[in-house]
Formats: sequence, structure tokens, C-alpha cells
Amino acid sequence: MRVLVAGGAGYIGSVVTADLLAAGHEVTVLDDLSTGHADAVPEGAALARVGLHDSAPVLADVRPEVVLHFAAKSLVGESQERPELYWETNVGGSLALLEAMRAAGCRRIVFSSTAATYGEPESVPIREDAPTRPTNTYGATKLAVDTMLTSYATAHGFAAVSLRYFNVAGAAHGLGERHTTETHLIPLALQVAAGERESLTIYGDDYPTDDGTCVRDYIHVADLSDAHLLALPAPAEGEHRVYNLGNGTGFSVQQVVDAVREVTGHPVPVELGKRRAGDPAQLVASSDRIRADLGWQPRHTDLAGIVRDAWELTDPAAPRGSHARGGPR
Ligand code: UFG
Repeated sequence: MRVLVAGGAGYIGSVVTADLLAAGHEVTVLDDLSTGHADAVPEGAALARVGLHDSAPVLADVRPEVVLHFAAKSLVGESQERPELYWETNVGGSLALLEAMRAAGCRRIVFSSTAATYGEPESVPIREDAPTRPTNTYGATKLAVDTMLTSYATAHGFAAVSLRYFNVAGAAHGLGERHTTETHLIPLALQVAAGERESLTIYGDDYPTDDGTCVRDYIHVADLSDAHLLALPAPAEGEHRVYNLGNGTGFSVQQVVDAVREVTGHPVPVELGKRRAGDPAQLVASSDRIRADLGWQPRHTDLAGIVRDAWELTDPAAPRGSHARGGPR
């Protein structure tokens, strides 16, 4: 199929692009490189260096049969400080993309949604029918796009899937997390192990969990990517499906730190800090729906394995070649 990947120069988008190419699809990446990297776009994909608001001419030219939409601002803290940036990029940009799709006669889309649409859960594991009460602007903007997709399916016959990611980690195809401003636990802990940071701050140890630190559901980016390829053909015209994507197993911040110590062989000094605003105690997915509907089955559920794959791209002592961060272009 002719596929357009919005945000294909970012962490998750680039991994999915590599898998789409391997499956024989013709891929154009649309990315303004505001947070993505041109050298992360896998060889074989075309790159249009354009933002969502200016995407119409690219879609008119490419005439994609399906769009995968990863392009977004995605830092929870930043979304609280600069909400206008999140509404403009995530919601305004998505609206522009959907209109560009309509004009180009493309009505099939897979959208990167998030567990942040649920907010503080009433119970875990979280199912797709749980209440959506986002506690930050990032989650609110993603939920707004989910709602937009439901309207476009109903009114314009779009075939849409929203994939609600939990905590994505690991690396695949030599592509890993490479954010200028890093806020995520696993890459930060690995930077400490690599000697790039002195210590890791644990944000609170007084949560109602076994060891007092927050529990999250870490999903390997390769398993996440599999779900996108399964989702592509799934919905009928006029249908908007929503699927959670996680392993269904929670690991605490302390358990992640222990795994990083074990995998890297480095001590990883930690400091205890205050709770981070808006952090729910536990976020664990029920992914029963996508398993049942699409036969999705995660292959990398072992936390140490997820950490090891990310470490291979971070470790300054790793042999050259395994240290490559992006595919050559
Ligand atoms: N944490 C620390 N120290 C750090 C960084 C993180 O203790 O230096 C803790 C956080 O408090 C949290 C856990 O590690 O308990 C995981 O934090 P991340 O920032 O890695 O991930 P989040 O769970 O906050 O965020 C993820 C996604 C978001 C999504 C959110 C849903 O990255 O995109 O889940 O709530 F919005």
C-alpha cells in the first residue's frame, strides 16, 4: 500500500516505518523535524519536511491509501506550561491532516493515542471502556483527536484506529529514544548508567504500591509497531476502533532502576525527590481487546530485555555498529 507516516522521523514513527518497508509498503514520511531526526528515517522511505498544517500538497501528490499519524507534541510537563502549543499542534495539526486526507481521497488512518486520555484510573488494568478524564493538556489534546476521529468516521466514512500507548520503551532496527529534552524514566536511567548524568531522581516513594514508587506498564517498541501493521486493514469504513497497548504487567520505578543496574552493570545512583505533579500511582493496560480482535501478541514482555535493547544504543562502550542510532540515509 501507499502509506504516509506523519511523524516518521521520531522514535516510534521511525520504527514503524522500518517495519512497513520490510512488509513491502511504499512509505512517505511527513515530518517537520521539530523533534524528529532526518537520519532516523529508514532508507527506502521518502521524506517530506513539512508540518501537519502544511500537509495538503504532500497528500495531494502522494495520494496515500492509509495514513499513520505519530506527529505530536508529547511532553506532559510542557503541555501544562504551554497548552496553546499542544492545542495548536496536536489538535489543529490533526484537523489539518484529516482535511488534507479528505481532499486527497484517503479515509484510512491509524492514530497514536495515549494512556494519558484516561487520567487517574478507578481500577487497573485499564480497559478501553474506562472513563476518559485526562489530568493534563497532553492527554486532553489526544482525547480531542480521538473524538475528532469518531466524528470523521461517522460523517465522512473514515476507517480509523486509535492506539492508546502505555509506556513505550526499548529499541528496534537500531532506532531508539533520542529526545533533546529527555523526561522518560528508562532513557534517563540509562544516561546515568552511561555516565552522562550523575544520578536519577525517583519522583516519590510514598505511593500506595508495593514499594511506594509508581507502577507503569512498559511495552517494547517492536511489539507496539506490530500492532500498527495489524491495525492498518482492520476497521471498516465508518468505523473508529480504540485499542489499549500495554503488556498488562506493571513494574515500579524501583524495579526499573534495579533492571537497569542488572543489565548495565553500573550502580545508577538515585536520589529521592518529591512526587511529580499529575503522576498516577499505577497505570497498567488491559490489552484484551486488541488481542481478541486482531490477534496481537507481545513478544518482548521481559523488562530486562526491553532495557537491554535500549541500552545497546546508549552504552558508550558498545562496539561501533551496535551503537548506530539511526539508519543511514
Ligand atoms: N520517573 C522518575 N524519575 C524520572 C523520570 C520518571 O521517578 O527521572 C517516574 C515517573 O514519576 C513515573 C515513571 O517514572 O512514575 C515513568 O515516567 P515516564 O516519564 O517515563 O512516563 P510516564 O508514565 O509519565 O508517561 C507515559 C508516556 C506519556 C503518557 C503517560 C500516560 O510517556 O506519553 O505515560 O500517563 F502520557
